[in-house]
Amino acid sequence: MKSIKTLSVTFCIYLLCADVRGEIVSASVAAGLSAIVAGGMAGFNFVICRFKECCGDRWIHENFTGLAEELNSKLYGQYLVVKPVVNHLKGHSKGNPSKALALSFHGWTGTGKNYVARIIAENMYKKGMSSKFVKLISATKEFPHAEMVPLYKDRLREMIESSVKQCEKTMFIFDEMDKMPPGLIDTIKPYLDYYENLGGVDYRKAIFLFLSNTAGGDIAEEAMNYWNEGKKREDIKLKDMELIIQKPALNVISGLWHSELITKHMITAYIPFLPLERKHVKECIRDGLISGGYYKKRSDIPEVKVSEILEELTFYPEGAGIFSTTGCKRVVEKIDYVMEEV
Ligand SMILES: *[C@@H]1O[C@H](CO)[C@@H](O)[C@H](O)[C@H]1NC(C)=O
Repeated sequence: MKSIKTLSVTFCIYLLCADVRGEIVSASVAAGLSAIVAGGMAGFNFVICRFKECCGDRWIHENFTGLAEELNSKLYGQYLVVKPVVNHLKGHSKGNPSKALALSFHGWTGTGKNYVARIIAENMYKKGMSSKFVKLISATKEFPHAEMVPLYKDRLREMIESSVKQCEKTMFIFDEMDKMPPGLIDTIKPYLDYYENLGGVDYRKAIFLFLSNTAGGDIAEEAMNYWNEGKKREDIKLKDMELIIQKPALNVISGLWHSELITKHMITAYIPFLPLERKHVKECIRDGLISGGYYKKRSDIPEVKVSEILEELTFYPEGAGIFSTTGCKRVVEKIDYVMEEV
């Protein structure tokens, strides 16, 4: 009886020893293997990332020269936009930013807000709008039902967190921000703040673009005032427009998103998009005629054709017809309409 017990004890001890020994051996084998695997993975990733989009310089090329060039040559009449957009993006990309970059684009439809967002995406990310690090969120498409806000909140939070976890330099484009159901803004706020770390993730390298019509009317009115007073459009100052966009009265009218983000100083900069004049729309028409394949180069385009298409669009104020009501937005369909006639 006694001897059996002793035997089993020794046996147990032996097993334990065997186990420990085995562990030591397997631990060192594992360490060696994981080193090989890690090295292999690095090399593997290096090869993979040549072909497949990865979160690194190869795919996030941040071409600020290209960005400035493209905005200067393809965006018409928005001289208040280019400099702040390029400078803020450039400043934010250097070193360790203290918070996520949040640019708020304001203006009527057709003034170029989406267009600028796309040009930014294309010059920052090799795959442009189709990059997996560029997320386009359209308030009306994605959050149509006010009663489903609790569900939307979870979905939005999950989307932002998983995206930034995957790549710190993710760019979120929120289109139609003014139509976002109230309450969803609360979900975005923490990611725009100065936190170094939020649940183990650093959001400070992320970029948020908020596109809205908010203050579009006030911006247009100010442009109109300048015109009425015989002053040049180019004399409108960015500072004045920023004040107009931040006007307290406007917050009451234009909804919560605006006032909440303004009072908490979460927006890095307000970017005003002025209403377009005839000469600007004409440039869009010329671009559209070329990209639509109707002409090879600008000098081939007859002026009468441009005027004919321009006549299809509406301008205000009545009589004077200075500013386009739809900017460059409906230009392509008007071009097709006029050009198919012949
Ligand atoms: C940046 O963009 C410009 C204009 O599109 C282009 O000529 C240049 O090669 C680009 N530079 C890099 C580093 O991609």
